[in-house]
Amino acid sequence: MKNVSSIPELRLARRSLPGAVGFVPTMGALHAGHLSLVQAARAECASVVVSIFVNPTQFGPQEDLSRYPRDLPRDLAMLEKAGVDLVWSPGEETMYPPGFQTWVEVEALTRHLEGELRPGHFRGVTTVVAKLFNAVLPDKAYFGQKDAQQAAVIQRMTRDLDFPIKIVVCPTLRETDGLAMSSRNAYLDPAQRKAATILFRALSAAWAAYEKGEHDAGQLRARVSEAVATEPLARLQYVSCADAGSLEELATVEGKALLSMAVYMGKTRLIDNFVLG
Ligand code: PAJ
Repeated sequence: MKNVSSIPELRLARRSLPGAVGFVPTMGALHAGHLSLVQAARAECASVVVSIFVNPTQFGPQEDLSRYPRDLPRDLAMLEKAGVDLVWSPGEETMYPPGFQTWVEVEALTRHLEGELRPGHFRGVTTVVAKLFNAVLPDKAYFGQKDAQQAAVIQRMTRDLDFPIKIVVCPTLRETDGLAMSSRNAYLDPAQRKAATILFRALSAAWAAYEKGEHDAGQLRARVSEAVATEPLARLQYVSCADAGSLEELATVEGKALLSMAVYMGKTRLIDNFVLG
């Protein structure tokens, strides 16, 4: 496994990779969820590239950029074991050199949900992913359903900017108690970690109601908020039941819907979602 940091080194190493290239962009602090994307890439592509870059432009001023977990040696060991061919871990000055002033912005899709609550977040994500795509030039790129809006926004950007890249969205990997794997789970103390299963339990309650025939979106949102209210350590930030394509809030679930939520456990913000229909 090769590990490079500058763009010229990356381009050189990329050129010698055989066959179709699968790409997994990450911010490091890797867990089994990230590795499931690597495995999917491994299964479908001759060569696999992973990037590790904690992208400052997607963090808000009050967010966790400075305390975001970083452990490059550990991440590299995990990727080596997972059979990755090339790791690109650029520094901030490589991605955002002095004078940087060009941004990629997806419009309507980012006005809802995470985009509404985290102004500028998706502008940072799409800008960095566009730059990563341009440098790596992959054939396929792998994203997690865990960040459902991010996956939708990246798919839109890829189509709108004609990147010749197939976007593959992989299922959310969960702990045995249902908690979606996330680098941010490392912030939770033992009591919060136990209580954090409330996201999965709340989504499961709404899903069970949906399966029994409840298709009123307001009722499904209510199932989620009622469940979260039973957990004293959790504070619901939002629950949404939206059209899976446009992310517009629904009155009734008819086609495919995205049931999604954000919860604060102390200072730690967790998100999760299920797709209905
Ligand atoms: P990061 O949070 O490190 O996630 C990297 C990829 O792993 C994303 O596509 C995310 O959806 C996926 N992922 C995270 N947890 C997962 C889980 N439990 N199951 C399956 N996939 C999971 O998302 C980012 O980084 C950044 O925004 C990035 C796209 C790298 C741009 O900076």
